Amino acid sequence: MCGIIGILGKEAVADDLVDALRRLEYRGYDSAGIATVDSGRLDRRRAEGKLKNLQKVLNTQPLAGLTGIGHTRWATHGAPTEQNAHPHATSEVSVVHNGIIENFQSLRASLEARGVRFDSQTDTEVIAHLITEELHSLGNPIKAVAAALKQFEGAFALAIIFSGYDNMMIGAKKGSPLAIGHGDGEAYLGSDAIALAPFTNEITYLEDGDWVVLTRENMIIRDMDGTVVQRERQVVDVSTMAIDKGEYRHFMDKEIHEQPDVISDTLSGYVNFTTGKVQFEEMPFSFKDLPKITISACGTAYYAGLVAKYWFERYARIPVEIDVASEFRYREAPMEKGGLMMVISQSGETADTLAALKYCKQQGQHIGAIVNVRTSNMAKEADVVWPTMAGTEIGVASTKAFTCQLTVLACLAIQAGRERGTISEELEKELVHALLEIPREISTFLKDESQFEELANSLSKARDVMYLGRGLSFPLAMEGALKLKEISYIHAEGYAAGELKHGPIALIDEKVPVIVVAPKDYLFEKTLSNVQEVASRGAKIVMITDAQNVDVGNEPLAVIQMPSLHDFVTPLLYAIPIQLISYYTAVQMGTDVDQPRNLAKSVTVE
Ligand code: F6R
Repeated sequence: MCGIIGILGKEAVADDLVDALRRLEYRGYDSAGIATVDSGRLDRRRAEGKLKNLQKVLNTQPLAGLTGIGHTRWATHGAPTEQNAHPHATSEVSVVHNGIIENFQSLRASLEARGVRFDSQTDTEVIAHLITEELHSLGNPIKAVAAALKQFEGAFALAIIFSGYDNMMIGAKKGSPLAIGHGDGEAYLGSDAIALAPFTNEITYLEDGDWVVLTRENMIIRDMDGTVVQRERQVVDVSTMAIDKGEYRHFMDKEIHEQPDVISDTLSGYVNFTTGKVQFEEMPFSFKDLPKITISACGTAYYAGLVAKYWFERYARIPVEIDVASEFRYREAPMEKGGLMMVISQSGETADTLAALKYCKQQGQHIGAIVNVRTSNMAKEADVVWPTMAGTEIGVASTKAFTCQLTVLACLAIQAGRERGTISEELEKELVHALLEIPREISTFLKDESQFEELANSLSKARDVMYLGRGLSFPLAMEGALKLKEISYIHAEGYAAGELKHGPIALIDEKVPVIVVAPKDYLFEKTLSNVQEVASRGAKIVMITDAQNVDVGNEPLAVIQMPSLHDFVTPLLYAIPIQLISYYTAVQMGTDVDQPRNLAKSVTVE
């Protein structure tokens, strides 16, 4: 999952390539590079680490040329070194690649047996060499790419340029996303519309198996069989793609504070404010007839799904099966036809989730996709799309996308309950009313964050942190632990509070802070007993609760006092303190909050 860009420009393209890479850095940021064709000659610059390192190289060794490609990398094969950075090139062909060539080892072995020498450990380098070899035998770049593409297994989005060809670039897509941008006498290729936003809002999305020969004036798209195909040209709304931190220190900080607005926007898509009820466009199924709902997703999106399981089961009395997509896709789960399969994904591109979706399609399930990117592959594959209106999320740690996913899922659970006759009109109105209160509650809560700075001081000294919760708060405990691990690099575990005594309580001592997500709901007293169990083993307790003056057995490290809310909506508000805990702790530790090590925002490889 890397970011790729290609530009056929009217002026030198190096600066625009770097600018586009900056917008793509969320896809990977462990090395970067660009290549151009200048007076028929290929040249490239590459650097290990963040984009600023490439910029430094370009400051001292600029690159001319009106045609170029660029890449920002999340390493799959080979360490994130300059040598492994893209573009990979021969003297005739330069290529950038997002995805994995699964048969690269056998291709590499045969190329090496024919005398080709490799400079990197990447799977991508075989692409440059194989196309070069085909070019030597077929004498034409278009034929060479057509012949080479047939030999690659796996997923790829490619942008390729050639020595001697100032007005041609070839792109190919299989599994990984690739879009063509149409300019005025200019043409572009990019991993997504965000990369192309400064240049154009007219986009053609390639479909799997497509490859395109692009010039400044023209494009010819072919499918895998070589048949010329037409793909729709569309105008995308780039206004939602601003990537500006504004007055905030980090994108994550900004995105946390956007939540009242984006949750409101999302609610306005699914709630009729006049009737006080939820409303959805007609669906290709009825919740009444569904035997079961299956949910599959990854990471934070999976935890949103886990919250939804509690909602659907409790309020709509419908069985829900949920699994992380990387497991589900290979489980060969038997499925009764006519069920609903829901994917949840910010990007709509996560490889495992997409594969789970495709499996369920084959199993005769209706497919519903909750995605933040409406042009994504998951949105295209689904029978029905329920978009979140979170706007572009740049911080690698998901915040506003998570609460917007919860918002859509809460509305769906109410809709399901109404259709199945398990909630009355009165209860529906009560639940919707509680949901509508959330933006204001979050906004009020965010007015005073002083406590989090203080708490971060203690947490940043801990080696391990435990998060506990029950019921709807159990997925939040896991989400809290994930957030803490990914941006502060502190080891954290999220546990169902009642499960603790079956093993993990052995880890507890006075050095381990235990953060308890404990709204005063019907499980509160049970959670409190579990808190006493850990407190009596010396743990330092952080309570996140609306209960007053709680006795946790010893002096708590902190009590984060929450307002009292309807049980149904607590996950939406309690998500905020867990986001702030991880944010302030990471800031205290001095980590790279928006681009934590080893991660990328969009995971398009399995
Ligand atoms: C964690 C995080 C990830 C994503 C996961 C799925 O903060 O952001 O765990 O939730 O990679 O990504 P999407 O939602 O794009 O499918």
